[in-house]
Formats: sequence, structure tokens, C-alpha cells
Amino acid sequence: MRHFEFKNGEMHAENVPLAKIAAEVGTPCYVYSTATFERHFNVFKNSVSGINSLIAYSVKANSNIGILATLSKLGAGADVVSGGELQRALTAGIPANKIVFSGVGKTKHEIEAAANAKIKIFNVESIPELYAINEVAARMNYLAPIAFRVNPDVTAGGHKKISTGKKEDKFGIAWNKAEHAYAIAKSCSNIEIVGIDVHIGSQIDHLEPFEKAISKVGNLIKKLHANGHNIRCFDIGGGLGIPYGNETIAPPDPSNYGAMVKQLTKKMNVEIIFEPGRMISGNAGILLSKVLYVKKGEDRNFLIIDAAMNDLLRPALYDAFHEIEPVRKKPEKEQVEKYDVVGPICESSDTFTKSRKLSKINQGELIVMHTAGAYGASQSSQYNTRPLIPEVLVKDNKYEVIRKRPTINDILKSENIPNWLI
Ligand code: LLP
Repeated sequence: MRHFEFKNGEMHAENVPLAKIAAEVGTPCYVYSTATFERHFNVFKNSVSGINSLIAYSVKANSNIGILATLSKLGAGADVVSGGELQRALTAGIPANKIVFSGVGKTKHEIEAAANAKIKIFNVESIPELYAINEVAARMNYLAPIAFRVNPDVTAGGHKKISTGKKEDKFGIAWNKAEHAYAIAKSCSNIEIVGIDVHIGSQIDHLEPFEKAISKVGNLIKKLHANGHNIRCFDIGGGLGIPYGNETIAPPDPSNYGAMVKQLTKKMNVEIIFEPGRMISGNAGILLSKVLYVKKGEDRNFLIIDAAMNDLLRPALYDAFHEIEPVRKKPEKEQVEKYDVVGPICESSDTFTKSRKLSKINQGELIVMHTAGAYGASQSSQYNTRPLIPEVLVKDNKYEVIRKRPTINDILKSENIPNWLI
């Protein structure tokens, strides 16, 4: 069941017409569906039922506190990668004992904040980082629970820019150094070894890479148990691919993913931590935009829209595909045109798609870009001094702005002209 659908020829988010949101909030803006968040979270939860597990939603996919609070109510924990994300998760009411802290470059300040909150696990990515955590923990008279993120050297599909589990990637402890890392951790006064962690990439469209990584780490867990390490949590990261509408093979069904994990981990005697991001939020959001101009080039038609690469970076960064639809349904026999859909930013990469066949679209019309709920708003910037765009959360027939559009003055307020020029 989709929650962005045409009703009487007008696309709605649940029971709110998108045209109403555009008129009242302005465009461009992100619109999210509560029902979709709930559905996706529960689909995932049901897929992994029967596994002793924690679902730690990967905050980076969509970090708005309104969304985090929605997921918290459903029982989600959080995977955070910065002090900022930690504060978001705590502010949204996610209990600290359901928060894991990932990332290759935690600062001592961030480590201290996480230790103060008493999070569930620090996922440690290097020995120097382990020492930093030990040092902060010693100063605080605290025993820091850690897992090492190991790099299993597995190729994981997706786009090369979002593959993280190969030995040439910056992530995790090198496979052949993992056992030694645990030995070092054991000798640290303020470190408690509690787990192991792996995350191999994102938008992974088949199960084999997950199987390989989980089995490989499973063997390592056996060795670590034999070496006397109390590994009781296995964080298998996120990465499950979702449909964007252009794929030739469908991404794995979450229930098959869940069954695979259950099968592979049933004898490991550990709690499994999942860090899904895109799977929960991707199809729960759209980017709503207005066509500013239709320009006829020499041999192309450009739809110049009011959203740009600073609002949704994925096409510019990863050549990502997002399905595009007009908000008002076109008659079946409407003429079809090929469009380059572009934003107003002064870069050629500010192009959402090239030569996309769409029914004829006119100046002033509203369009949506689908599957924009993950890595959309959270990757946006104010490039070209374009204010961050609003985020709107719909629930049934009501909606609320959960991030408001700053004014240009808000942006300028944080800057100043140096004294020596005044
Ligand atoms: N855990 C860790 C440690 C991660 O680094 C990530 C994503 C996740 C979990 C969640 O992965 P997911 O379930 O969402 O695939 N900006 C890119 C995606 C970057 C993913 C980074 N790490 C995009 O727009 O496709």
C-alpha cells in the first residue's frame, strides 16, 4: 500500500492533497508519510521477529527529530555517527540504552557526550580511537562498552561511493588485525568488550554479500569466544536495498533478509543489532517542487524546477534515479515529452534526470520526486544561499511542518564581517 497516491486526480500524502501543502508551506519542500514510516518499521520488525534483536534506525538517512520521535514510539533504537545525531536521538526520546555510536572519527568531546548518556555500544573503528575512548572513560570513571567494526573485505553492490566493506575502504578494523584488536581492548582499564560490528554498504540489491559478511564474522565470533572475549552483541549494520522504480531486479524482500539472518545467526548466541536506514525512510518521503520555467534548448527540453541539487544531492552525487510524477494526474492520451529536469544552481551537475519521458508538463505545475525520504533532507545544504527547505510530516488528514524554512536573515545571522573591515 502506497501512501503517496492519486485521489480524484490529485496526488495526496495519505489524506492531504500535496497541492494544499504547496500552497500553505511553499515549494520546494519534503513531505513524509507517518503511515509509511510505521509500515516500514513494522515490516522490518516482523521480518526479524524471533531473533533476539535491537533495531537501531540509522539516523543519517533522515534525522529530523519529528521522524526520530515517530520511530521511537514504535520501539526503534538509533545508530548515530556524531554528537549532533546523538543529541537528536536523545531529544526525540530514544533511550540511551538503545543507541549505538558508529563512525571512523569520533572526537573526545563526542565520546564524552555518549559516555555521559550511557549509550549501548561504541562501535570502534581503529586502535587509536579505542585508546581515546579508554582515556575519556578513565577520566570519567566509566567502563565503556565497545564493539569493533571489522572490515570483512566483501564486495557489496550498490554504488561504489556507498560501498564500505572492502579492504581498501576507510571503514573498520582490517580483517587480519581483528583478533589482535580484541586482545588490546582486553588490556584497556576502562573498556568492556561487548560485541562485534560490520556494515558493508548501502542500497545492496541481493542477499549474497550480507550472507558472506555475516558468515565470515560468525567464524570470527567463534574464535573470539574461544579466546575468552564476551561477545554478546553482533551488529550487522544496515544496507538493505529498496525499489526506486528503475531496477531490473527487485531488491531483496525484507522477510527473506530476516530469514537469512535468522538462519545464519541462530547458533551464535548473541543479540543481533540491525541498523536499517533507507529501508525505513526512503519511500516514506517525496520532494515536492514547482516548475519555474520550461525551456526549449536546441535539441532538448529543460524543466527548470525550484528544487536543486542542494536540496536533493543524490542524482548529482551518485547518478541516482528518482521517479518523477506530476501532482495532477494527466489524461491517458496526454502527449509525452522528453525532459532534462534541472534545478536553478549554477552547475551542470544540478540535473535530476536527462531525457526522461514524462507527460507534457507546464510552467507552474507541481511535481514530485519519489523515494526522497532517505538521504534527501539529511544531505541537503545551503549552496548558492538557498535556505534549507521545509520538512512536512503528514498523519492521515493532518500535517505539521517539522523543519521550517529559514529566512535569508537567519542564514546571515551566523556570519559576520571581520572587525578590521568595519
Ligand atoms: N550503518 C552504518 C554504519 C552506515 O554507515 C549506514 C549508511 C547505515 C547503517 C544505513 O545504511 P542503509 O540501511 O540506509 O543502507 N548517501 C547515500 C547512502 C550512504 C549510506 C551511508 N551509510 C545515498 O544517498 O545513497
